[in-house]
Amino acid sequence: MKGIILAGGNGTRLQPLTFAGSKQLAPVYDKPMIYYPLSVLMLAGVRDILIITRPTELPLFRALFGDGRRLGLSIEYAAQDEPRGIADAFRVGEDHIRGEHCALILGDNLFHGANLPSLLRRSALKNSGCVLFGHEVADPRRFGVAEIDRKGRLVSIEEKPRHPRSNLAIPGMYFFDAQVVDITKGLVPSARGELEITDVLRVYLEQGTAELVWLGRGVTWMDTGTHESLLEAGTFVRDMQRRQGTRLGCIEEIAMYMGYIDPDDCHALGAEMGGSPYGQYVMERARAFSTGMPPTALSEEL
Ligand code: G1P
Repeated sequence: MKGIILAGGNGTRLQPLTFAGSKQLAPVYDKPMIYYPLSVLMLAGVRDILIITRPTELPLFRALFGDGRRLGLSIEYAAQDEPRGIADAFRVGEDHIRGEHCALILGDNLFHGANLPSLLRRSALKNSGCVLFGHEVADPRRFGVAEIDRKGRLVSIEEKPRHPRSNLAIPGMYFFDAQVVDITKGLVPSARGELEITDVLRVYLEQGTAELVWLGRGVTWMDTGTHESLLEAGTFVRDMQRRQGTRLGCIEEIAMYMGYIDPDDCHALGAEMGGSPYGQYVMERARAFSTGMPPTALSEEL
């Protein structure tokens, strides 16, 4: 399975922060925003990843991750010259996907919670159709919205409805089979001029192959695209980390836990940042892992 992180867009809602930098590189407490969606793909078992950015920002992402090898990943980059909507990721990423299944995650979506790793791995194993997620929110009008019937079956999908039929928002994380590229080619831009991901999902829904997975209360989902939500996400990360003594979205630790790199490599990555509490944490986790920390404890914390 391939993965795409969409980190494009003009970040208009975050201006002036985004005039000279990418939204997805903005700090969410102690690490760049993109670490969080990258860690989600890694936990899903996805190691072959394309990052789509604005052309001017591509070198910044490359400077951050290189070819991904240090994390046991393969990371490639592609530029989206204009923001044409989320589904445009499959046009830009067509060569990367090359007939394979694909997970797409938005570069400003943050997920955390118990059972998330196993839920992700299960979703990645689905062999046809698509998986989308549902998460209850107070105001669903800002999001794609899923409607389900009394039996819990998905019956409709709408993009930012004025009168939502449920409070089940659809977060920016999706798993698709190989049809997704062709489905995207058949789309027309919406009233806001974008190729909507919800239109792609609706094609699968009509085929009867769209599976909705409910993210229960144990999972936190945040999008970090406004000043308010960015601060909220940072505070959330700080509080969780402080309480648990662990780090969210720590890609070096996850790479080690998933077996993509060994504890010595992980320790070396931490040592390069040894002057920061983050780097020290990475080194500590590498040491603990080599001395037999139980993997189940790790899997629920990451
Ligand atoms: C996009 C999608 C929407 C989804 C949301 C999640 O909205 O179009 O369906 O619920 O991401 O963050 P946008 O960020 O384009 O407003």
